[in-house]
Amino acid sequence: MQQEAEAFIHQCYTELGKSSQIEKRIAEVKDSIKHAGMYDHTFEELEYGAKTAWRNSNRCIGRLFWDSLQVQDCRGLKTEEEIRDALFYHIEYATNKGKVRSTISVFNPELEIKIWNHQLIRYAGYENEEGIIGDPASVEFTTKCRELGWEGERTSFDVLPLVIQIGNRPPKWFSIPKDIIVEVPLRHPEYDWFADFNLKWYAVPIISDMRLEIGGVNYKAAPFNGWYMETEIGARNLADEFRYNMLPAVAEAMGLNTRRSTSLWKDRALIELNQAVIHSYKEDKVSIVDHHSAAKQFQLFQNKEIQCGREATGDWTWLIPPVSPATTEVFHQSFNNRMDSPNYFYQEKAYKDWKPE
Ligand code: ARG
Repeated sequence: MQQEAEAFIHQCYTELGKSSQIEKRIAEVKDSIKHAGMYDHTFEELEYGAKTAWRNSNRCIGRLFWDSLQVQDCRGLKTEEEIRDALFYHIEYATNKGKVRSTISVFNPELEIKIWNHQLIRYAGYENEEGIIGDPASVEFTTKCRELGWEGERTSFDVLPLVIQIGNRPPKWFSIPKDIIVEVPLRHPEYDWFADFNLKWYAVPIISDMRLEIGGVNYKAAPFNGWYMETEIGARNLADEFRYNMLPAVAEAMGLNTRRSTSLWKDRALIELNQAVIHSYKEDKVSIVDHHSAAKQFQLFQNKEIQCGREATGDWTWLIPPVSPATTEVFHQSFNNRMDSPNYFYQEKAYKDWKPE
């Protein structure tokens, strides 16, 4: 921890123009690690760390806005109920009635707080004889929720409860109040029949199962959000065969020949699905970015980084959008996929070793 902490303090105070304080702060941190095996970040360090972790997220195309991340310091919270309320607050604050604010809530790294959800807001998936109702990606977690006593309504879009566990205590689940969740019913600017699919999606993707690592400290509960790029919903969540698999139905309704791949029915259905997502979010005044704008913004981010004497790292396989990738500039570039620190990491599923009584 010592080494990572020192490197972080150096980087943080240098970038913030406070080099003169480095020596004193490092002495303090060293002392704390020696006596407590741990050190606490000041709010300024935490804020810088969370923002920089975003800046270093190689797979994210939205990094132009890294410096505007809103950091909520939730390190003082101790009970499941306090944590629940902070998560409710995060949802409301980040949603901001549709004008989405990129936000992270950082919880105490020493309390072993585990948020079981992959995203704070996500739809349940139920497996039965006929197939799957809802989001197939949620089947495993939905089963856990049901084992804990939660019951969904079994619609295609049941919002899952928050599940919070502290240490080895039994996990607690909490339904999210409907009035703090914004959802967008999907319709198409030209095809009236599109609304009859009764598709919708939620406004804000809040990733809640990643670990934030800053200067040797692991924040395992640190949910964060940005706003959606339309392809995430229109080309993946609703389109993937192993998700909502809507392309065949959309293509049929468009009157395309789905027997021949040469009709490009998948491609044409994909475009209309994405068009519907953009149209609906825009009309409802919920933040969304299209993949062309996002790619342009990423270009700006890269330029800014160079001006600051850094070079943006990146994971090309994730940065290119899944729709018309070659029409964006990112497609024609290559990136160094080195993982700089601070950063966000995948971690084991919080419910991996949990068994119902
Ligand atoms: N792709 C994920 C989803 O569709 C969300 C990942 C984060 N996305 C973002 N725009 N910050 O739910």
